[in-house]
Amino acid sequence: MATMVVVAAVVIVVFGPKGAEGAPSRAFFVFGDSLVDSGNNNYLPTTARADSRPYGIDYPTHRPTGRFSNGFNLPDIISQRIGSEPTLPYLSPELNGQKLLIGANFASAGIGILNDTGIQFVRILRMYEQYELFQEYQVRLSAEVGSEKAKKIVNGALVLITLGGNDFVNNYFVTPFSLRSRQFTVSQFSRYLITEYAKILQRLYELGARRVLVSGTGPLGCVPSQLASKSTNGECVPELQEAANIFNPLLVQMTKDLNSQVGSDVFVAVNAFVMHMDFVTKPERFGFVTSKEACCGQGKYNGIGTCNALSNLCPNRDVYAFWDAFHPTQRALGFIVDAIFAGTNDVISPMNLTTIMALDSNNI
Ligand SMILES: *[C@@H]1O[C@H](CO)[C@@H](O)[C@H](O)[C@H]1NC(C)=O
Ligand SMILES: *[C@@H]1O[C@H](CO)[C@@H](O)[C@H](O)[C@H]1NC(C)=O
Repeated sequence: MATMVVVAAVVIVVFGPKGAEGAPSRAFFVFGDSLVDSGNNNYLPTTARADSRPYGIDYPTHRPTGRFSNGFNLPDIISQRIGSEPTLPYLSPELNGQKLLIGANFASAGIGILNDTGIQFVRILRMYEQYELFQEYQVRLSAEVGSEKAKKIVNGALVLITLGGNDFVNNYFVTPFSLRSRQFTVSQFSRYLITEYAKILQRLYELGARRVLVSGTGPLGCVPSQLASKSTNGECVPELQEAANIFNPLLVQMTKDLNSQVGSDVFVAVNAFVMHMDFVTKPERFGFVTSKEACCGQGKYNGIGTCNALSNLCPNRDVYAFWDAFHPTQRALGFIVDAIFAGTNDVISPMNLTTIMALDSNNI
């Protein structure tokens, strides 16, 4: 009992200064694909969804939420560590009033940098639509707090965007002779993606973002889905690994170029490839029994088809690196967030989130 009283007192001290209007001091906005979608696709007629069991099995409610995880997803864990409430999906009817001040999540599973990525998922929010909703959000936020304060909230926010994986897995490599693979070599395609990603980031800047974590692709060739469909002996699929290895360094260079154009370190490149690769090559070091087999799925490596009520399901999600055929477990995502906060320049550049939070605390 005594301990609980002490804990409650500490919580009040920590969150006290934010309490003035019941709002956190820094908003968080999220854009991109299934790695960060917190449930927007639940509201869309799409096949790219995570709203049935056993998704969410380790979430506090033990129910599916639309997150592509057994529990929390990447933005949730970042919100927790910066001391904020999780951002709601923009399409959620609960996102109203003072909740708007927390930020919003515009991400949609299945999308890519290109508009023709993910057409098989029917109705998803492509980047230009995520931005239309972001503009609508800003109008609503202005109505709530006034336009001057709204602008401050947007400029002072932390932003996360993840794109690129689907452009390879669900576009270029989706079939052996996809339209894009007949049009471009992997290297040409990567350059084209980077050119388009740069435009997307420039637009984000125009819309008011001033601190943006930009994530590229993980080790695409090592996910259970690709091991099941393209690997011969369980080795990571070389074409996909090569694609990620071309794309990610170009992304780092592109964010550097954009930062020199705008004259400030707005864009921070997150090397999800290196962060992921650590637990793919050394799963036991992270307490995982496997990084090849998904916890939830069927067939080889549990990597075939979707994770659903009839799939094999591992009893202990904490010892698996992959939850489903494409997405890491909550515990694996925690290690990625560790690297975002404390990583050195080879995994997050020009600086990590600990440095960013310290720098920005002076300006907000
Ligand atoms: C995607 O579509 C939007 C809206 O039509 C357009 O503005 C944008 O340039 C397109 N992106 C690409 C990469 O073609
Ligand atoms: C963050 O980045 C800085 C600069 O690269 C580094 O010195 C520091 O060790 C990193 N980790 C933390 C927790 O700040």
